[in-house]
Amino acid sequence: MKADLLIRGISQLVTAEGPGPKHGHAMRDLRVTVDAAVAVSDGRILWTGLEKAWSGGAAATVHVGHRAVIPGLVDPHTHAVWAGDRLADFDARISGVPYEKILAAGGGIWSTIRATAAASKDELLALARPRIEALLRSGATVIEVKSGYGFASDKELAMLEVIRCLSDTTCARIIPTLLIHVPPKSASDRAAYVSDVCQTLIPEVARRKLAVAVDVFVEKEAWSAAEAEKILASAREHGLAVKLHTEQFNRVGGLELGLRIGALSVDHLEACSPEQVTRMSDTSTVATLLPGVSLHLGLPPAPGRALIDAGAAVAVGTDLNPGSSPLFSAAAALALAVRLNGLTAREALTAGTVNAAAALGLSDAGRIETGLPADFLVLHDSDWRDLLYTLGNNPVREVWIRGEKVAA
Ligand code: NIG
Ligand code: FE
Repeated sequence: MKADLLIRGISQLVTAEGPGPKHGHAMRDLRVTVDAAVAVSDGRILWTGLEKAWSGGAAATVHVGHRAVIPGLVDPHTHAVWAGDRLADFDARISGVPYEKILAAGGGIWSTIRATAAASKDELLALARPRIEALLRSGATVIEVKSGYGFASDKELAMLEVIRCLSDTTCARIIPTLLIHVPPKSASDRAAYVSDVCQTLIPEVARRKLAVAVDVFVEKEAWSAAEAEKILASAREHGLAVKLHTEQFNRVGGLELGLRIGALSVDHLEACSPEQVTRMSDTSTVATLLPGVSLHLGLPPAPGRALIDAGAAVAVGTDLNPGSSPLFSAAAALALAVRLNGLTAREALTAGTVNAAAALGLSDAGRIETGLPADFLVLHDSDWRDLLYTLGNNPVREVWIRGEKVAA
């Protein structure tokens, strides 16, 4: 066997094994190989194993200095494109004004929609690029990015065009999602908005392949489950996957809708009840936890421990956005999930790799396995658990994508 590149001197090589959530195994086992090596050919994994067992040749060799190597992280939920800031909201919330009240009064998400509408595509791109770079340096080699601060159809399309430009100019793999975020303020305009989304926006997004999924925010201050069902049915008809922001503050039927229509994931779940945890046990829909929101808004953390104990497939994302989670690190999201949602280190790594990939409908990300893209991280530490232990410093030393070092 002849490799383009041999990565050696790996203290621990950690990867998740086994079939994905879709195949009925919510939790995969981690395999930890001590004193390992990884051979790369043509940007893909050619071989993994004990370093002393490698008998092939290699055009180049890199010794990583007895450090841990793990799969590239997958951030399955971000809103990385926005303009303006939410510092005034932050001040108000610190003085006790609830997030939902700020939103109902026309601030919060609405203030970001106004600032985003006023920005040009070039401005949005310039604002988003360093955010994607920060996520990449924190270990995310695959990053989902949502629209949702456009509101008007042409502005949602412009956001998706910005996401496409980001995708074309970063080495991270960007997964674009159309988010139908908040309804028109006047109740009488809602039905017309939904039909415009279903009859014009979604077909256009599908035709131009600007998104692979549609997401709807189901909540008392946002969309009802019945409205979301119409929007997501149209998404399905146009060949797009579906997912929901749901059970963030209230239970208004979003989780049940997501399970009924086979959503890739239901995200947030801070208000998920014990009965709903049980419902998540027998489904291929991934439960995506966003611990940055619990920390930033002071919400009760989603019941990660109970979901995993019930057999649900749990993923974790940053939810990077200006209002509820200004969290620019995929590694830190996992570290928070251990503290706030009760995940073990092994469960957190699974949640940030293979399960997060499943939440995006991807089967070729989040693993270091022969034939898959050679996307992996070299940590600073020799013990992989440092990824979950370290707070406020980057535990990731090097990011490799398709066999190339892209950040160090
Ligand atoms: O995932 N909950 C709704 N949407 C975003 C927050 C957006 C914002 O506050 O700007 C979320 O929490
Ligand atoms: Fe979100």
